[in-house]
Amino acid sequence: MKDVSTLHWIGEVDGFLRMIDQTKLPVELVELDCRDAETVWEAIKSLRVRGAPAIGVAAAYGVCLGIQSAVDNDETSFYKRLDETTEYLAASRPTAVNLFWALERMKRTAALLHGKPTAEIAAALLAEARAIHEEDRRMCRAIGRHGAVLLPDGCGVLTHCNAGGLATSDYGTALAVIFAAAESGKTLHVYADETRPLLQGARLTTWELQQRGIDTTLICDNMAAQVMRERRIQAVVVGADRIAANGDAANKIGTYGAALLAAAHNIPFYVAAPSSTFDLSISSGDDIPIEQRDPREVTHGFGRQTAPDGVKVYNPAFDVTPAELISAIICEHGLIRPVNREMIAEMFKQNDSQ
Ligand code: MRU
Repeated sequence: MKDVSTLHWIGEVDGFLRMIDQTKLPVELVELDCRDAETVWEAIKSLRVRGAPAIGVAAAYGVCLGIQSAVDNDETSFYKRLDETTEYLAASRPTAVNLFWALERMKRTAALLHGKPTAEIAAALLAEARAIHEEDRRMCRAIGRHGAVLLPDGCGVLTHCNAGGLATSDYGTALAVIFAAAESGKTLHVYADETRPLLQGARLTTWELQQRGIDTTLICDNMAAQVMRERRIQAVVVGADRIAANGDAANKIGTYGAALLAAAHNIPFYVAAPSSTFDLSISSGDDIPIEQRDPREVTHGFGRQTAPDGVKVYNPAFDVTPAELISAIICEHGLIRPVNREMIAEMFKQNDSQ
């Protein structure tokens, strides 16, 4: 297999961002070179790069690209360009808070350097983007370690969408838990929901699990209840795009349904996410903005019309799973269990990471 990673920066301050074009998987493993912020914006919008942490890392590098043309300008126009770029990238997708978290970090870095040569600020911004990238890598490994103990040897695990290496710097969040459990010697049987309408589960999750030699079965989303009833699933592990202060968690549309099914079958339901996915400024899931996407994703999926012309379509890309349905949140600092406002506040107080 080609040696490729979800995202990497090539070169120095005048370099560029190379990413796997996830819309081409699993048929083709091809990379896309982004040499300006517009290409990064389009890649995020059209899910060439997707998954909350990966979107954050891509946006941070997108800022580095956006300011390249302003490095020789005076300070005022350099900062103006920075503001325009961050605002522009923030408008690519609304739900994953990692995007806004990463852009805020980039802005904060620059704000501390007022008065310095613009070349120095540009170098500091690239260093910050690289730090965000590297920290995400470490957080994913830690999530894997903390979560692996939750999966009993021989168990069946259901996952929804793709929260793997493709959705992060590498290794993933929900899939990190599965990878780490497998690496510790456990045998697992993973059921991957295909994840309508854009099939991240079918196209990306099964591909990643196959690469790592993990026993994987693809199911359509509407089969999960039957598979649970047949007692094939002992745990559900998913990622998240934004977790409110009370533990309500937004993730790919269909996650809430999977959580309800898990509760009905007495199966633990785990959310794996780094601290960068928490939005403590939002009190509950009711306030999480839910992205609405093009109806054609439902009526013309992958180039084939599957509904009559003119039919009304509702296409929210995410849903919110209430905290009470989540058995534990697995973050890089450990397990948050039970999932409630107090436990989340305590975890952040102890680790001072927001
Ligand atoms: O629309 P997508 O593919 O970006 O949605 C991705 C998900 O919902 C993931 O589960 C989530 O971002 C967590 S990724 C570690």
